[in-house]
Amino acid sequence: MTSSEWPPSRPVMGFNTWYQFRTNITESQVIRQAQLLVSSGLAAAGYNCVNLDDGWMAAERAANGELTGDAAKFPQGMAWLAGQVHALGLRFGIYTAIGTRTCQSLPGSWGHYDQDAKAFAAWGVDFVKVDDCGGLPEGTTLDTLTEHFRQFGACLRQYNPEVLYSQELPIHQIGRPSFLPAVRASAEFAHMWRVAHDEGPLTHDNASPMILGHLAADLPLHSFAGPGHWNDLDMVAPAFPASGWTMADLHSQLSVWAMEASPLLISADIGALPPAALAALKNPHMIALDQSGEQCSTVIMNGDIEALMKRDPAGGIAVLFVNLGTHTATGRFSLPQFGITSARASGYDVWTGNKATFSEVSVTLDAGQTMLMQIQPDEEEDEVALCG
Ligand code: GLA
Repeated sequence: MTSSEWPPSRPVMGFNTWYQFRTNITESQVIRQAQLLVSSGLAAAGYNCVNLDDGWMAAERAANGELTGDAAKFPQGMAWLAGQVHALGLRFGIYTAIGTRTCQSLPGSWGHYDQDAKAFAAWGVDFVKVDDCGGLPEGTTLDTLTEHFRQFGACLRQYNPEVLYSQELPIHQIGRPSFLPAVRASAEFAHMWRVAHDEGPLTHDNASPMILGHLAADLPLHSFAGPGHWNDLDMVAPAFPASGWTMADLHSQLSVWAMEASPLLISADIGALPPAALAALKNPHMIALDQSGEQCSTVIMNGDIEALMKRDPAGGIAVLFVNLGTHTATGRFSLPQFGITSARASGYDVWTGNKATFSEVSVTLDAGQTMLMQIQPDEEEDEVALCG
């Protein structure tokens, strides 16, 4: 078993089966992905959790009410699989739903919270995602639903005090007055909760609107995020590269997720990730930003260009520039707008590695395009200022 902090105080990093495999998951494929996580270096970069999503369970519960794995897909059972994943030094995650059925109409946990929590703990499950679907009784209100999520979390913790609890309570409240109360409640009892819709359709054309839509949904929620509890924007690199996303799309997604301190759960076939995508996912600067312990809370605009900022653990300030308009546009910002008091500063592009020094920041981006930059006061000038 891995010795890293669990449950992590920072946004969890790992792998999830959903976008790549949907319900076509088997134990050999899961083990293959776990092995690839290790051999690709992703595990060493922090992606240390392997999560099954929907589709792992048998079509019906056993006669004694127990939830079991689909015997054709998981012939050796869930405890065995958890053991295999643990033997690789990784954590093991599983999925269920708060209602009677999952989003794929498989058995959910309604009426079985205690029983399922006990089974998951016995199997060695480290991470449980509870979806907001399926067959809730007539008359279920947000309050009662919230209580069910709270109660399920309590059961999970009772049998495994170290479990990471991920859930989707807010997702069906998006766009309603009940959204914020659902997020607020989630932050009290879960480690992460989904704040934006599923990603889709997964195409290049939809990548930028989806990523920027998720960003807009999450920006007002920064006060709910902090060590041990994070807003969840959904998985990263969904079915990449089959999705048709470009590297620029992937860079944009990782930039937004890192600024927003969202969990980073890769949902692609690790074996099919091109070297550039692997390098992007392992980018230490991006990971440090994601794991910095805070979600971005400051945004300024110049024309169509939005600049989001937060403290950069590597020094200075991280700024994500986003063109929210429909045409190529240039944004101009003064250094004091980023809290920098020196006359000159240096900028480092987190994705290209390009460096520049400047006395103001001028950024030109195509519609929907982003740029992630670390900006630091010019050191020489600081020295001059100190000596002078
Ligand atoms: C919902 C969730 C997804 C995924 C699917 C599985 O749509 O939001 O993340 O778990 O269910 O059916």
